[in-house]
Amino acid sequence: MKITVLSGTSSSQDLKSILQERCRSDQLVLLEQSGNKLNVDAPEVSSADLLIIECQDIEHLDWSATEIFNLRHPQSTTVLICRGDLERVLVQAMRVGVRDVLNASEVRERLPEVIDRARVRLAATTGNRSVGKILTFIPCKGGSGTSFIASNLAYVLGEVHQKRVLLVDLDLQFGDASFYITENDDGRSLGDVVRKTDLDGQMLESACVPVGKNTWLLRAPHNPEQSVGITPDQVDNILTVASRRFDFVCVDLERTLDPLSLRAMDRSDVIFPIMQTVLPYVRGTQRLQRTFRALHYPETKIRLVANRQGKADDLSISKIEDALQTKFYMQLPNDFPNANASINAGKPLYEISPAGVLTTALIRWADQLVGASKSGQASTGSLWQRFSSLLK
Ligand SMILES: Nc1ncnc2c1ncn2[C@@H]1O[C@H](COP(=O)(O)OP(=O)(O)OP(=O)(O)O)[C@@H](O)[C@H]1O
Ligand SMILES: [Mg+2]
Repeated sequence: MKITVLSGTSSSQDLKSILQERCRSDQLVLLEQSGNKLNVDAPEVSSADLLIIECQDIEHLDWSATEIFNLRHPQSTTVLICRGDLERVLVQAMRVGVRDVLNASEVRERLPEVIDRARVRLAATTGNRSVGKILTFIPCKGGSGTSFIASNLAYVLGEVHQKRVLLVDLDLQFGDASFYITENDDGRSLGDVVRKTDLDGQMLESACVPVGKNTWLLRAPHNPEQSVGITPDQVDNILTVASRRFDFVCVDLERTLDPLSLRAMDRSDVIFPIMQTVLPYVRGTQRLQRTFRALHYPETKIRLVANRQGKADDLSISKIEDALQTKFYMQLPNDFPNANASINAGKPLYEISPAGVLTTALIRWADQLVGASKSGQASTGSLWQRFSSLLK
């Protein structure tokens, strides 16, 4: 969801901290601009799914521009945060389509619920689908099996669990996730759409390669030159559009952290660092953990995955958990014959060995993801309810 905040001077501390806590996977734009000159044509405003206007002086709010915004964007939610007596502005706010009016003193208590409602509203108007989850997969060290696992999990989510899934290959230099699930390479890639400022879901989908009935792939650009100059905001825009069109957006990252991969991780609901249980990977994982701490990611956002379990040289799971001070979220077995056959055939693992040990583990993982995405629906309620309670 894209959230644009307009605040005359600077946004209140409560507002900032709630946005930081609750909206880590949203696209946030903070504009130091007062609500009495709302420019509805500005791209940051016109593309907002949630427009939050902090007004120092509610008397001078640009009511007609606010109404125009709400008429033009019926799927969006507008919220006013102001001081003093709210009751005198409720009728006016309702007339121009504002969904909620909060007193500055109740932001901490009520804004989270307002944000949740905006999400539900957006989901209802984008085909009654929740805004998709962004899942990012990052190797703790090269060759841990990240691209192979990310692409095959994406395929299982799409074809076994019947979710609409997009796999985004963000390994812009050496992207190979693509080749793990399809041989179809018709030239389409992220390079075709990443610079489009008016990108919508349909345009995005037309740049993707279908790899099943419900699974699409956005390839990394074909030559590294096409990747030069791609900005974090452009990646952000792709993820915003993708999460409105797909139930799951699975992002495959390269190991090197750069501004693009950091942005993708910021936007992710969950990050899955993929490691093998041997010493060099433990060190790589510790380095990643330090980065996540520096970025203030909550622990719940990081889910560590052990891949290729069962090899002779593996360290014990409990020793590694002690060293890393974290539990594994998932342990995937080593399945060399089927992984190899899948890669050589350029076909998804599920198509090669639907009941193999690794496929079974991926299906179980997908079960959990699908189960988790069903929960967390927000309650309903609105300014209308508040207004009618005042009338009672
Ligand atoms: N569970 C598994 N069992 C057997 N082989 C596996 C398993 N997972 C991945 N592999 C194999 O590991 C190899 C490397 O996988 P992959 O390219 O996905 O790693 P990566 O972490 O993305 O590497 P890079 O750092 O180059 O991006 C592949 O040949 C793949 O088949
Ligand atoms: Mg890879």
